[in-house]
Amino acid sequence: MSEGILLEQVTRGTLLPEPQRVARLQAALPQIEAAVAGETDEVALQATLACLLWETLPQTNWCGFYRRVAAQLLAVGPYQGSMGCLRIPFTRGVCGACARTQETQLVPDVQAFPGHIACDGSTRSELVIPILRSGQVLAVLDLDCPHLAGFSLSEARLLEALLGRIFSRVES
Ligand code: SME
Repeated sequence: MSEGILLEQVTRGTLLPEPQRVARLQAALPQIEAAVAGETDEVALQATLACLLWETLPQTNWCGFYRRVAAQLLAVGPYQGSMGCLRIPFTRGVCGACARTQETQLVPDVQAFPGHIACDGSTRSELVIPILRSGQVLAVLDLDCPHLAGFSLSEARLLEALLGRIFSRVES
């Protein structure tokens, strides 16, 4: 599939009510899986997911990946949105906390998160999900939103499952 996914057009920056966001994500999931079916290249998957999740999640102002490039260091990967920080140590920010703990970070108010890195001053909430392989962080998916509480636990769980399915087949 080369035309992205079929979803209702929503203006970038709109925070839909939570049930609509979940329904939109659920409608997108089979289309996203079909778009990347059979692909095993990590960068091809990250780039395509950054594109399709950006379309799926209109509340995002940044949507993309940070990859583990050294023992305790992330470097930016494929993304959509304004320029992100290039490198994030595991000790810093929401992405660092995700990589360090290997746990999803659902942050409804980034100003209340100690050490949050403000790449874009308009960001108010954030969701970061780890992608793990053999007990190590391969990368994290970072989603930023200019609204408070821009992401829900239901969205986080659906995205965790999607990433788990898709990246389990990445070649090592
Ligand atoms: N806000 C993130 C940094 C990445 S950028 O926002 C794209 C953090 O605190 O980890």
